[in-house]
Amino acid sequence: MSDLEYRTALTRTWVPRCCVSDLYFSFLLHETYADGCYSPVPDRLFDGACDYGNESECGDGVKRAIDEGLVKREDLFIVSKLWNSFHDKERVEPICKKQLADWKVDYFDLYIIHFPIALKYVDPSERYPPGFFVDGEKKLEFSKASLEETYHAMEALYEQGLIKSLGISNYVGSLLLDVERYAKIMPQTLQIEHHPYLVQPDLIDLCKSRGIAVTAYSSFGPSSFLELNMQRAQDTPLLLEHDLINGIAKNHNKTAAQVLLRWATQRGIAVIPKSNNQSRLAQNLDVCSFDLSKEEVEKISALDKDLRFNSPTNVSAHTSLALG
Ligand SMILES: NC(=O)c1ccc[n+]([C@@H]2O[C@H](COP(=O)([O-])OP(=O)(O)OC[C@H]3O[C@@H](n4cnc5c(N)ncnc54)[C@H](OP(=O)(O)O)[C@@H]3O)[C@@H](O)[C@H]2O)c1
Repeated sequence: MSDLEYRTALTRTWVPRCCVSDLYFSFLLHETYADGCYSPVPDRLFDGACDYGNESECGDGVKRAIDEGLVKREDLFIVSKLWNSFHDKERVEPICKKQLADWKVDYFDLYIIHFPIALKYVDPSERYPPGFFVDGEKKLEFSKASLEETYHAMEALYEQGLIKSLGISNYVGSLLLDVERYAKIMPQTLQIEHHPYLVQPDLIDLCKSRGIAVTAYSSFGPSSFLELNMQRAQDTPLLLEHDLINGIAKNHNKTAAQVLLRWATQRGIAVIPKSNNQSRLAQNLDVCSFDLSKEEVEKISALDKDLRFNSPTNVSAHTSLALG
């Protein structure tokens, strides 16, 4: 086994555990977190984050489900993320412990560096979640922490048993190559925006060559950004209403959403679709009962426009540089 394979294998156990067939899911219900985390779905994964501002409510649902014997802790796969304001090495462990306390658990199955952007610390007693701006309004201030410093602090969490595996999110290929230089434990997953308008084949190939699982967020493209009133999303044809996607869906007697999820998973990419609607949650789970043809996969991939919606461009031109 090469050194890189060894470092990649260190926390490898999580991948089969969290998979339902060849994909996994988030059940982040933004209005009804506690109830959402409580409803009985076996082998579930919660994709949480400090920035989502709902970890304590999610923890209430998890605690209730465990206390009432609905699930065991080991049946759940709980993911959380380190926010940008906590990148300085001395901030990583305290904030991870606060997030664990919010979730009412003593370990995370996966803990992810949310963005490769280090911002100035904000004390949680002053404002939580801190968001992008140090003053909570419009003042952007960076921290001096390097990504290497933050990554090593994440590895220390793993060594203490506070997290079972570690991941990165919104990293570009060059940053991934950099991680490889200093990681004692390679990341288990790279979580990225990924849909037919943003296919990123080179980045995905790079991850595959390193044995790093790719997790796609925003699998439906512009849909989830409409509620944020994002102009770019409003100006882009919805994938869920796209003629090509709907034509393929009709061929398989499935919905457009199911085709978009299957397109990703068939290419070996995990998905974490979000829905506040129970029937759509169930629909999003039923995406392994059919296969797209090679031609269908290729036609969907050809919609690529290299179009990113979740760019911190919306926050600042400086932060947009981080994602390319
Ligand atoms: N790492 C990061 O930086 C990052 C960034 C963004 C998101 N994420 C993660 O990725 C998850 C999903 O991404 P996202 O928030 O962009 O949302 P998404 O899953 O791409 O889309 C959610 C939107 O699609 C709708 N929807 C869901 N299932 C549907 C279906 N079967 N048919 C039609 N519409 C459907 C939802 O509406 P209804 O609720 O009405 O069903 C909602 O408007 C998030 O919950 C978060 O955990 C991570």
